[in-house]
Amino acid sequence: MSVRIIDGKSIAATIRRHISGAVRERIASGLPRPGLAVIQVGDNPASSVYVSHKRRDCTEVGFHSEAYELPVQTSQKELVTLVERLNKNAAIDGILVQLPLPGHMNAQAVIERIDPGKDVDGFHPENIGRLLLRLPSMRPCTPYGIMSLLRHTGEPLEGKDAIVIGQSNIVGRPMAIELLNARCTPTICHSRTQDLQAKIHRADIVIAAVGRDGFIPGSWIKTGAIVIDVGINRNALGKLVGDVDFATACERAAWITPVPGGVGPMTRAALLENTLLAAERHSQRP
Ligand code: GUN
Repeated sequence: MSVRIIDGKSIAATIRRHISGAVRERIASGLPRPGLAVIQVGDNPASSVYVSHKRRDCTEVGFHSEAYELPVQTSQKELVTLVERLNKNAAIDGILVQLPLPGHMNAQAVIERIDPGKDVDGFHPENIGRLLLRLPSMRPCTPYGIMSLLRHTGEPLEGKDAIVIGQSNIVGRPMAIELLNARCTPTICHSRTQDLQAKIHRADIVIAAVGRDGFIPGSWIKTGAIVIDVGINRNALGKLVGDVDFATACERAAWITPVPGGVGPMTRAALLENTLLAAERHSQRP
């Protein structure tokens, strides 16, 4: 079986070009640029990298972007006050609070204070609930980006057995719902799952979101499967690698995402898509 690489970097670049075109059209018709506010509390180095990439994307597609870098000792009340100010700010269509937040904060409580119409991460219970009810609005970015990657293969998704390894609120759970909405048969696995190897071996679509370097050996993959690797781990040599052992998985998979250059750029592209959608809705307000 010869594997095909799903090139997230180039698919994301195509999405950004479409978004740039949509922004130019908005401006030509007198509408404002979509606006995204990104809030980071503290200076977690990984978060700083993600936030700078998101800001660079905004500049590339012509969005208005505002960055709020708050000190680590910021109180939850101060953060919520900022969120509520941005909820009312007409120049801002999307608000993203970069996670993780410092230990003294309750991330869920903060997320719930974001206006669901500006929740471009898709983490607010209203947006998660809408996804569950097949009424999607703002869709969580990583699963949304992965659905675009899966569609890009051109393979029919209906009826496929899909396995999601990882049950987080931001990836695993919404991912399983997205797959269900696409009429796959999803299974969610986690640290208490029995016989993970057998379950993975039956799956036509494997979504790995574990966060452990090479956790899934290629020999576990069913021949002809589509493998999507969400993991971004540093191996013992300091190289960025996924959760799936890439070289051996390539011997069995029909399609596979690389790390880096697979899911990461698509998560960011989905954030831009959500922000454009939010802006379109805000400009339709009476
Ligand atoms: N931290 C890691 N991934 C994400 C994400 O998709 N959104 C936010 N806000 N924080 C994150």
